[in-house]
Amino acid sequence: MSIPFLPTLFSLLLLFSLPIPTHQQSNETIDFNPRLQNAYAALQAWKDAITSDPNNFTANWVGYNVCSYRGVYCAPSLDDPTVITVAGIDLNHASLSGTIPEEVGSLLTDLALLHLNSNHFLGPIPRTFTKLKLLFELDISNNNFCGEFPSVLFNLTSIKFLDVRFNHFDGAIPPEVFKLKLDALFLNNNNFTSYSPGSVGNSPVSVMVMGNNNLNRCFPPRISRMRKTLDEVILTNCGLTGCLPKDIGKLSKATVLDVSFNDLTGTLPESIGNMKLLEELDVGYNNFYGKIPSSICSLPKLQNFTYSHNFFCSEAPQCLKLKEKDDTFNCIPHKPLQRSPMECHAFLAYPPQCSSFTCNVTSPPPPSLPPSPIGY
Ligand SMILES: *[C@@H]1O[C@H](CO)[C@@H](O)[C@H](O)[C@H]1NC(C)=O
Ligand SMILES: *[C@@H]1O[C@H](CO)[C@@H](O)[C@H](O)[C@H]1NC(C)=O
Ligand SMILES: *[C@@H]1O[C@H](CO)[C@@H](O)[C@H](O)[C@H]1NC(C)=O
Ligand SMILES: *[C@@H]1O[C@H](CO)[C@@H](O)[C@H](O)[C@H]1NC(C)=O
Ligand SMILES: *[C@@H]1O[C@H](CO)[C@@H](O)[C@H](O)[C@H]1NC(C)=O
Repeated sequence: MSIPFLPTLFSLLLLFSLPIPTHQQSNETIDFNPRLQNAYAALQAWKDAITSDPNNFTANWVGYNVCSYRGVYCAPSLDDPTVITVAGIDLNHASLSGTIPEEVGSLLTDLALLHLNSNHFLGPIPRTFTKLKLLFELDISNNNFCGEFPSVLFNLTSIKFLDVRFNHFDGAIPPEVFKLKLDALFLNNNNFTSYSPGSVGNSPVSVMVMGNNNLNRCFPPRISRMRKTLDEVILTNCGLTGCLPKDIGKLSKATVLDVSFNDLTGTLPESIGNMKLLEELDVGYNNFYGKIPSSICSLPKLQNFTYSHNFFCSEAPQCLKLKEKDDTFNCIPHKPLQRSPMECHAFLAYPPQCSSFTCNVTSPPPPSLPPSPIGY
């Protein structure tokens, strides 16, 4: 499985803003300072913990010049620019197997980036990661990590980019995840089985991807609180129930909203027509019904609107003008490729009512809102 290397922007910014010493290939000119000695011990411990390296990725991890090791990036340390230290490790797509030894946390304390995308690492994220006070980007995606969400990550005070997708994490997504001061959060393609819907509004992320889990909970009712930051939100195929909150349209910075392949119902909130930057909207494969509001189809930047496989009964004329749209398998009269009249009638005779769903909001509500659990 190959997944895109998304941290590019952050990584390039960081790596190129740090002056990489030009003398890093030479043993003579690198001062083997105590931080590099620690790094040497940590990287040798890691090499020992790697059980398979089919591409010989770590073959040159020998000798004291850790700055010349493949995938290891040195830079002047932030607290003392005269001291060279290991600031980044990028083992993406190395196909390594093994575990992460605790020395990575206890001895590589200047790490700002750690990219392990597309390997076969497993086992715990060491408790010592709590010492990685400068860690800014952590990408452990597409590995074999399993068990509960690693709570040690809540102690990473500088973390901005957290990517744990394509692993086998299970259990609840802890509410603390949404308190991290992140820019981007990827939890998708794991085995998470619940979350606290009320906690999501606390997150300051611009990109939030949680799809392909089985959360079995309502749609986050307070998502509109993320209006100052949220740009892309992808909640496809994660077992969401209930209705979209009426004020979802306050997400005025959002460019992508994907809630497809869930068990959502009700009508599409008219307020979506206020999301003036929206480019892609996918509400397909749910149980939505009613009319597609013209305000949505008139959104100035909307390029792709998928609302197939629902029970909508009409679409505004503006919708027909959209370049990319999918309105199939609904209940729209005189349209090709719709559900059968019998199926439509059976559903629309007793359409699910939003008022019959309550949302288990466990985080304490602010004083201005009614106490939990709240409805919509
Ligand atoms: C890795 O190194 C071993 C031993 O030196 C060699 O047999 C093997 O072909 C190398 N594999 C690759 C992919 O270069
Ligand atoms: C991690 O964070 C928790 C909660 O903030 C704190 O209680 C704990 O002492 C921290 N652990 C370490 C090792 O810093
Ligand atoms: C999730 O759990 C199920 C059942 O235990 C398992 O069959 C499936 O492979 C798991 N999926 C992932 C992505 O780990
Ligand atoms: C439009 O969105 C649908 C569903 O999200 C996707 O399958 C399709 O490829 C998109 N079309 C374009 C041109 O991006
Ligand atoms: C709400 O969530 C809490 C914590 O997850 C759980 O203990 C409680 O039973 C839930 N209540 C309902 C009504 O689902």
